[in-house]
Amino acid sequence: MNLLAIETSCDETAAAVIAETGDAARPWSIRSNVVASQAAIHREWGGVVPELASRQHVRDICGVYEAALDQASIGIDDIGGVAVTRGPGLVGSLLVGVAFGKALAWSRGLPVIPVHHLAGHIESLTLAHGELPLPSAVLVVSGGHTSLYFIQEPGRYRLIGRTRDDAAGEAYDKVAKLLGLGYPGGPAIDRVARTGNDRAYDFPASRLTHADRNAPRATADGILPPEIARRVDFSFSGLKTAVLRLVRERTGTNPDVRALKAAASDEAGAMLQASDVADIAASFQRAVVHALLDRTFEAARWLGARSVGIAGGVSANSRLRADADARGTSYGIPVFIPPLALSTDNAAMIGAAGFRKLRSAGAGELDFNAESSLNLE
Ligand code: KG4
Ligand code: ZN
Repeated sequence: MNLLAIETSCDETAAAVIAETGDAARPWSIRSNVVASQAAIHREWGGVVPELASRQHVRDICGVYEAALDQASIGIDDIGGVAVTRGPGLVGSLLVGVAFGKALAWSRGLPVIPVHHLAGHIESLTLAHGELPLPSAVLVVSGGHTSLYFIQEPGRYRLIGRTRDDAAGEAYDKVAKLLGLGYPGGPAIDRVARTGNDRAYDFPASRLTHADRNAPRATADGILPPEIARRVDFSFSGLKTAVLRLVRERTGTNPDVRALKAAASDEAGAMLQASDVADIAASFQRAVVHALLDRTFEAARWLGARSVGIAGGVSANSRLRADADARGTSYGIPVFIPPLALSTDNAAMIGAAGFRKLRSAGAGELDFNAESSLNLE
């Protein structure tokens, strides 16, 4: 059976055709995976403008859907179901995909499967590498989320850690803006950091402990012992502020914290030497990657995980990929990361999560709605 998948949660309009293979160890294959990126539109504004994103999805969705069928060399009669991202994400963007997916399914009498965006990122791992050795500790690290899941059985995702403030991708995007590197910030920092000295600055890698009285209830209650549970949460806002202070010091300008959010904050970045920018980017990246891997591997060891997975847009980061492999070797735990095309937002991963859900819980009703926030568990 072929599944048509649609993803429009942020600024990528995506459609894909995924097929079942009949092989339980490697259950799905990709027949097509089409992504129309809106990055060029949002770059001008320094970040995603929700209203522009929704409008561009409306323009692109039909063409992207047709391209997905064409590239798979099939027609709509060969499709057995429609999987679509229901949330979380920008609600106006999600609505375009949800309306398109529901209308297509209804008009063709096909089952429709609403999919959680993060389930898609997690299942990109199985799509690329086959079923992971379980139990597995899977880190989803994207522009909107930094969440650690424990998976003991396929399709059941238990949240054991998450960011208390910014997502890692968000921190990349904000720091890139501060350094005058533009949008999207992750790939820009990744590129520039290669020429920098990652020891030039010792940015704080915040460590959350059980002594933190403002801490919310630990997510991992009952899975990890309490003293470990709180330590697997993440925090990136302190790191972001440390970079801001340094840039202020180095340039004598005063880009205040609000400037991190405002569109025109790259004046300070323009005043820095290229080598300074590279050193700051490399040092920032070292701190982020350490924070992500420390917690993920610590939790994996505690839980006796037989694999570690890392998915989501930030998993495209070259330093994260290299360091994760090295950690995996030193911990003796195999590490799985999707290929680049499946790291950042795409519809193939939504098809994979759609198949997982269809085979375990069946299709959904047509009355579901787009949801800007939505729990995975
Ligand atoms: O998963 P994704 O495509 O969209 C969301 O679900 O948010 O992730 C986008 C995030 C952005 O913050 C982007 O800057 C970051 O992933 N990203 C990267 C890299 N490529 C994309 N971050 C670091 N290094 C990269 N190479
Ligand atoms: Zn995503």
